[in-house]
Amino acid sequence: MATTIDFSRYPLTGWYPGHMLKAGRQMQASLKLVDLVVELLDARIPGSSRNPIFDQLFRGRPTFILLNKADLASPRVSREWTASLRKEGKKVVFLDARDTRQTLELVPAWRRAALAERSKGRTALNRPLRIMIVGIPNVGKSTLINRLVASKRAAVGPKPGVTRHNQWIRLKGDVELLDTPGVLWPRIDSKEHELKLALCGSIREETVGPELLADYAWAQLSRQDQRDVAWDTYGLEKCPETPDAFLEAIGRRRGLLRAGGAVDPAQSAAILIKEIRDGRLGRLSFDPSPA
Ligand code: G4P
Repeated sequence: MATTIDFSRYPLTGWYPGHMLKAGRQMQASLKLVDLVVELLDARIPGSSRNPIFDQLFRGRPTFILLNKADLASPRVSREWTASLRKEGKKVVFLDARDTRQTLELVPAWRRAALAERSKGRTALNRPLRIMIVGIPNVGKSTLINRLVASKRAAVGPKPGVTRHNQWIRLKGDVELLDTPGVLWPRIDSKEHELKLALCGSIREETVGPELLADYAWAQLSRQDQRDVAWDTYGLEKCPETPDAFLEAIGRRRGLLRAGGAVDPAQSAAILIKEIRDGRLGRLSFDPSPA
């Protein structure tokens, strides 16, 4: 019988650096300057990477959602999330932001969405198209912007309501992007939510503790459709019964041994977390399909 772990008995870290609060206020101040908000979500956790503050801040504004890191997520679960987000009236696109071709295809779609907004008379017609890029940390904002601008990057200077923390970047064809810092929200309400964000790299693993995160990774893998998990990465056929047995198997496979031949669980945990993030264990989603 496999172990079950009650993660809710671990305290929340409450990690919310002050600069994130400030950045949220700056985004709100910048809102009147932009035609469209583009929110990046992590396709592995489309629900858990959605910042509830953005819904309040950007209410009524057109939002374009990018399910980024789609190459790492389960295609089936991602399709179900897309259908659910589209029901909310959002435009949703899957993305691997490292792929320049995919990123360049976004611009005409953004242009159409922004021009449709202008035709409603909400923003001035005689200025470049302005798009604000938002998302929690590590969802791929910088990767996307770097692919879009390539060598044509040009910061376009301060504008009213925008401080040095937000940066305007001009693309070809009269489009300006507002690059914003990754922000979380003040109260993450469950330990599993915090651990999911850490598993996907939006909260540093040191903040939650790498060993607890490895336990959570094991629990997540044990809940997956077992056919989707590349167990052979560690020479296994199925999920071990306990996290300790899992770390032991990883350590033996990878030769992560201390003097005396015992496995070093800390090293196994670090490898496991990195390799899940890199997709070595398969294309996995950690938020279940929406109801
Ligand atoms: P951010 O600005 O939103 O904070 O994210 P950033 O672009 O810095 O991307 C974070 C990491 O995610 C980077 O890896 C980047 O290469 C990777 N990444 C971004 N988009 C994609 C994608 O669509 N697919 C995949 N597989 N990876 C993507 P990194 O620099 O190696 O950092 P890390 O992996 O050590 O966190």
